[in-house]
Amino acid sequence: MTTAQIGTGLDAAIGDAEARYSAANPASAERYRQACEVLPGGNTRAAIYYAPFPLTFARGEGAYLWDIDGHRYTDLINDMSAGLFGHSNPIILEAVHKAVDDGLTLGGPNQYDVELAGVLAERFPSIELVRFCNSGTEANLFALGLARSATGRSKVLGFHGGYHGGAFSDPGSSSALNVPYLIAAPYNDTAGTLEIIEREAHDLAAIVIEPMMGGAGCIPARPDFLQALRDASRRHGIVLVFDEVMTSRLSPGGLQAKYGIVPDLTTMGKYIGGGLTFGAFGGRRDLMEHFDPRRGDALSLGGTFNNSATTMAAGATAMTRVLTPEACVNLNRHGDALRERMNRAASERDLPVQVTGVGSLMNVHFQRQPIASPADIVAANRRFNDLLHLELILDGQYIARRGYITLSLALTSADIEQFVASFERFLDQHGPLIAAVADGPGARG
Ligand SMILES: Cc1ncc(COP(=O)(O)O)c(C=O)c1O
Repeated sequence: MTTAQIGTGLDAAIGDAEARYSAANPASAERYRQACEVLPGGNTRAAIYYAPFPLTFARGEGAYLWDIDGHRYTDLINDMSAGLFGHSNPIILEAVHKAVDDGLTLGGPNQYDVELAGVLAERFPSIELVRFCNSGTEANLFALGLARSATGRSKVLGFHGGYHGGAFSDPGSSSALNVPYLIAAPYNDTAGTLEIIEREAHDLAAIVIEPMMGGAGCIPARPDFLQALRDASRRHGIVLVFDEVMTSRLSPGGLQAKYGIVPDLTTMGKYIGGGLTFGAFGGRRDLMEHFDPRRGDALSLGGTFNNSATTMAAGATAMTRVLTPEACVNLNRHGDALRERMNRAASERDLPVQVTGVGSLMNVHFQRQPIASPADIVAANRRFNDLLHLELILDGQYIARRGYITLSLALTSADIEQFVASFERFLDQHGPLIAAVADGPGARG
């Protein structure tokens, strides 16, 4: 196939899938039209938009979602990992109902905040003291503010293509929404990163890193790279921050425990609130004590909903009674097995498809070239993720547009079997096109 024929083939396949999708989802299409009248582009959260329009969901139960056109989906994205417990875990729902019955917003310490803080301190090696907030973005904002205050330095080193929230979207970009103090280094490139650290150390307050890049496509950091950051930051008095908003679920003590590398501060969010709005950061006692209100020179950090009783109740219950260390290990074992099966399905068909990730977080990529950093992703092939996403939805399987998959505790082995069968059907149906384009001329972009 020539490059032009390949492009036409992919356009036609996506166009055909979009037409079937639109025909099957008139209520979501109409809802999107209404949304565009009051929300910019019909959207209030970048990650949940996709063309031609996103599905509007009516409800979720267990491992399933129902859209307003009445279709049922197996949920394999689980709100970008926040829905680790599924949609209706009875133990968590009971805790939430009790907290709601006890009063919506109490405005003081409550019965649950200490318990949740205790679990985090017990499980995550870096956490001696913890502070709650309302999102992963806030967690990073405050952790990095603390580092800047404690060191008296101004800059923060992140990594090209990384994501730490709405104000930290690709530290290597010039987004006007980003905080102004970010500089960026190449992920998993030890020599390149150490060179920047040496050059900037005098004014470098913190290094912030996802131990596995999530939004960029589930790209794990090499442990020796993380160790080099640990050593260099210690040498220069730089605060090392692990953003474990996504990865804290990858072992009972997060990736820091799995790799045995302890940062100074850790930021968290997503599922730890049991499915409710959540953020937290914690770490070294001497750093976190800057927030001690009994100190005359304390950093004053407010937040109306920081210890919302409903979130604290849901989170404390979820982390002690549902996501026990055993349940966490088991979930990640299922994730490893699924990733291996998907990779095997691709290699048996000799297709340039790989699924990257660790445990229960993974991402499908349409290329053979190994991916050690976002720069290794073949940009032109991302359109295959559009096709995969639409075809899976039409088959009752819900993943993220970018090929991201996260498992929940509610998924059964029958759900996983059906998903693998659906993925294999996609590979069989579009195999010749995938083989031609993904390895074809000009694929790198
Ligand atoms: C690694 C990482 N950090 C921070 C955030 C921001 O969290 P939130 O969306 O709760 O602000 C995210 C969200 O996807 C994330 O993946």
